[in-house]
Amino acid sequence: MSTLHVITHPLVQHKLTLMRQKDASTNSFRRLLDELSTLMAYEVTRDMPLQDVQIETPLETMTGQMIDGKKLVLVSILRAGDGFLDGMLRVVPGARVGHIGLYRDPATLQPVEYYFKMPSEMSERDVVVVDPMLATGNSAAAAVARIKQLKPKSIKFVCLLAAPEGVAVMQAAHPDVDIYTAAVDRCLNDHGYILPGLGDAGDRIFGTK
Ligand code: URA
Repeated sequence: MSTLHVITHPLVQHKLTLMRQKDASTNSFRRLLDELSTLMAYEVTRDMPLQDVQIETPLETMTGQMIDGKKLVLVSILRAGDGFLDGMLRVVPGARVGHIGLYRDPATLQPVEYYFKMPSEMSERDVVVVDPMLATGNSAAAAVARIKQLKPKSIKFVCLLAAPEGVAVMQAAHPDVDIYTAAVDRCLNDHGYILPGLGDAGDRIFGTK
């Protein structure tokens, strides 16, 4: 079973509460998500492997440590996942970025892929999939399954809010993928929205409502 990491840092919880409020402007919602994703990136990258490197300080030679291996890949699930990118790239500026777009077929209710673009050499990379809302879990599970076809070294999933239903779907489908979130809310409503939630993350990031 994968681990569910709930990031309880006071700064994360404070900013999340500001974001949930219905009268937060598009500007402040976007800025808070940007700040939160930087804070969450610290937690998500905590176990990145280090390698020893010899460097010269102005005074002498020393052995420092730097991140080992190929660059990380952030994979945004379109479109709301894009709200995580700038904040995370601030901490890992060398990361590569992939995108996956899925829509729900109205007849079958199954996710259908309409866009998929990843960096090269995925089999040598660690992947962090980002999407602010883990609701039913169907898109997230489908996105991770598609990325697994490229056999990356590891995959983590990062969201701002999760519903218990979405966590269960992800953990059943992908027991090897740890989930990072700022909160696990109560449940989904009949339209698949998280309660109490924060509404439609894409609309609130892009001001499309
Ligand atoms: N997607 C959202 O943007 N919000 C929800 O509450 C659920 C899915």
